[in-house]
Amino acid sequence: MERNISELLARLTLEEKASLCSGLTHWFTKAVESQDIPSIVMYDGPHGLRKQEGEEAEEMKTLPATCFPPACGLASSWNVDLVEQVGQTIGQECQAEGVAIVLGPGVNIKRSPLCGRNFEYYSEDPVLSGELGTAWVNGVQSQGVGTSLKHFAANNQETERMSIDAQIDERTLHEIYLPAFELVVKQAQPWTVMCAYNKLNGTLCSEHKGLLTDILREQWGYDGYVISDWGAVDYRVKALEAGLDLQMPDTGGASDQDIVAAVQAGTLQESILDQSVERYLRLLFKALDSRQPEVQLDRQAHHQIAKAAASESIVLLKNQDHLLPLDPAQHKTVAVIGEFAKNPRIQGGGSSHVIPTQLDIPLDEIMKSAEAGVTVQYAPGYDLENDAIQPNLMDEAVALAQSSDVALLFVGLPDSYESEGYDRSHMELPLSHTQLIRAVSAVQSNVVVILTQGSATTISSWNERVSAILLGWLLGQAGGSAIADIVWGKINPSGKLSETLPIKLSDTPAHLNFPGQKGVVTYHEGIFVGYRYYDAKEMEVLYPFGHGLSYTEFEYSDLQVNRSQLSDQETVEVSLSVKNIGNRAGKEIVQLYVKDVECREIRPEKELKAFTKVALAPGEAKPVSFSLGFRDFAYYEDEIHDWRVESGEFEIFVGTSSRDLPLRQTVHVESTHSLPHRFDRHSTMDAILRFSSDPELGNQLVEQFRTALIGAGAEQEHFTTEMLEAMIRYFPIRGLYHWSKGEQTQAAMEAMIQKLNEE
Ligand code: BGC
Repeated sequence: MERNISELLARLTLEEKASLCSGLTHWFTKAVESQDIPSIVMYDGPHGLRKQEGEEAEEMKTLPATCFPPACGLASSWNVDLVEQVGQTIGQECQAEGVAIVLGPGVNIKRSPLCGRNFEYYSEDPVLSGELGTAWVNGVQSQGVGTSLKHFAANNQETERMSIDAQIDERTLHEIYLPAFELVVKQAQPWTVMCAYNKLNGTLCSEHKGLLTDILREQWGYDGYVISDWGAVDYRVKALEAGLDLQMPDTGGASDQDIVAAVQAGTLQESILDQSVERYLRLLFKALDSRQPEVQLDRQAHHQIAKAAASESIVLLKNQDHLLPLDPAQHKTVAVIGEFAKNPRIQGGGSSHVIPTQLDIPLDEIMKSAEAGVTVQYAPGYDLENDAIQPNLMDEAVALAQSSDVALLFVGLPDSYESEGYDRSHMELPLSHTQLIRAVSAVQSNVVVILTQGSATTISSWNERVSAILLGWLLGQAGGSAIADIVWGKINPSGKLSETLPIKLSDTPAHLNFPGQKGVVTYHEGIFVGYRYYDAKEMEVLYPFGHGLSYTEFEYSDLQVNRSQLSDQETVEVSLSVKNIGNRAGKEIVQLYVKDVECREIRPEKELKAFTKVALAPGEAKPVSFSLGFRDFAYYEDEIHDWRVESGEFEIFVGTSSRDLPLRQTVHVESTHSLPHRFDRHSTMDAILRFSSDPELGNQLVEQFRTALIGAGAEQEHFTTEMLEAMIRYFPIRGLYHWSKGEQTQAAMEAMIQKLNEE
C-alpha cells in the first residue's frame, strides 16, 4: 500500500478526508476504498481487553480476556515493572484479536472518594499516576498496539460528566490535574490521547484548543492523534480546529458533512483538516506495520501475571499481634464469612468491564491451600442482591465465627455502589456488611476483614474492632488465589495506599464543593488534594497515603545527598539503604517526598517526587538511589505561565509512608529564574519589606509611612509599638499620599513605586 502520506493526502477528495474524522461504527475507523485505505479497530481497556463482536449495540458480545486488577488495585502495587508487564500482556491479547488500539490508561486524579470511576484511576497523586500510566503505555505499545491516554482532562466526577464545567485555577491545573498526562505523554508517547467529556473553565474539552493544542502539542511536544471520548463532541468543526482529530463513535456521516460544508464555505481552513488526516494516516500505517496476527497466547501464563498483579495490589492495613499469616497450628478451624468469598467482585461497572478467561474464587482457594488438619467452613453472612440485613444469614455467620479459631470476613462495596456514569453519595459500606463485622467481632477476637472496594470507604466505625484488614480493592480474575496465598503466608503483602483513607467523608478536601451546582464544579481546594490537604490541615486520617504493612519489617538508614547546594538546572543524587530486618522475604516501597521550606508561595507540606519497590531477602540490605531535578523543586507560577523554583532550602524525606518518613536531608536550591515583584499603588508595606530587593529603600519607605501615620494622629493611647507595627504592615503605598496631609505628592509616590520596580 502507498506509504507516501503527502501524495496520498493530495489524492483524497475533500469528502474522503472529512470521512476520516469520525468513526465508521462504535469501534472502527473508516476505510477509503478508492485509495485502498483500510480501517482499524479500537476497544476498551484498561485492565483487560473488552473486545466486542457484533456491530449493533444489542448484538454486541464481549469476548473473554484476562481481567487484571483495575487501576485502583494495580496502583497499590507501586510497581512500575509489574504494571508494564500487565500492559505487555494486554498488548499481546490485542494483537491476537487484531486490535490496533486499546483505550486506556485513565490517569485522572482522585479528587473525591465519591467519584464513581475512581476504580479506573490510579491515585490522588500526579507523580504516582503518571509513572504507572507511563509503565502501562510502554508495556502495551512495546507489543505494537496503541493506547489512548484518557480522559484529558479534569474528568474527576461522573455527576453530569458530559456537561459539568470544572473551574480550576491555572496553577492547580498544572500542578495537580495535568502532570500525570504530561508524564505519560513525554515519557511514553501514547499513540492517541482521548479528550474528556466535561468542560474545563467554560469550554468543552473536545473544543478546548488551549488543552488539545497549546498544552498537549505545543508545550508537551505531543505528535500523536487525539480522539474524542464517546459522544464528547458538540460542534465538530470547532473541535477539529481545537485539535480533536477523530470523533467517536460514528455519526452516520453527519459530522463529516459539517466539515465539508465549513471548508466549502471558507469558514474552516482545509489545511487544518489536512493536518488531522495526515496524523491519522501516520497512526494507521504505524498500526498496520505493527500487526502480529500470528501471536500465540498462553492464557495460563497471563492468569499468573494477573495473580502477581493482584498479590501486589493488596494492602495490609493492620495486623494486630501478627494475626496474619494464619498459623495452621493455631488456626485449625477457619470461618470464611461473606458472599464476596464465593462471588468476588473483581472490577467496576461501565465501559472497562472485562469478561474474565477464568476466575479464582477466594473460598475455594483458601480451602485448597489450607494445610491438612485445618477445617475451612463458609457462611454467606449477607445477600449481595439485597442490602438489607438478613437475620438468618447473620445468625448463621455469627455461630460459625464463634465456633472457629479465626474468622475471615469478606465485605465491601457491591457492584451497584460504584460504576462509570454516576458518583456515590456517601462512603459507607452496606449496613448488612458493617453490622456483620460488629456481630462477628463481638464473638470472635481473631477477625480478619478482607475488603473489596474500588475507592475509599469509611471504615472507622469498625476499624478498632478487628485484628487485621486486607484491603483487596478490586483484584481482577486471580484475586481469589492471591488472597489465599497472603492469608496462608505464601505471599508477603507488599501493596501501599495510592489514596488516603480518611476518617469520614466531611474530612475530604473537596467535600464542600463536590459535585458542584448549576452545572459548575469549582475546585476551591486548589492544589490541596489528597494527602496534600490532610497534611496541610494537620488532620488525622485513618490510614495515610503510602501506608501498607508487610509480614516483615524494614529499616531505613544512611540518607545521603551528593551535594547540598545546587542550581535549579542541576540534579542532586539521593541515596539510602533499606534493610529487611525480619525473617521473611518481602518487598518494600520506598517513597521520597520534597518540602519547600522557605517559600513565598503557598505550597503543600510535602509532595511525592520519587518511589521504588525493592525485593529483600531476610536480613538483606540494598542501596536505593533517586535523582532529583528542576521539576522536583518547582511550582507552577501563573504570573509567567511556567514552572519555576524559588531559591531556598528544601527538605528531602524518605520513608515507608507519607506519615512515616524517618530519613531527612536538606539541600539549598538556587533559582535561575528570578521573578521580580511588581509594586503598585496597592502594594503593602509588608510586601515592600519582604520583596523589595533594596532593603534600605524598603525601610526608608516604611519609616516615612510611620511618621505620616503618627503625624496624622493614627496613634492611640492604647496602642503598643507592636500593635502599631502590625497595623502598618497592611497599609498600601497609596496611603502615604493620603495620610501625609500634602507632604507627599502623587508624583513623588509614583516615582517611589517606579524606583522600587527598578531595583
Ligand atoms: C468512556 C471511555 C470509554 C468509551 C468507549 C466512554 O463512555 O468514558 O472511557 O473508552 O466510552 O467505551
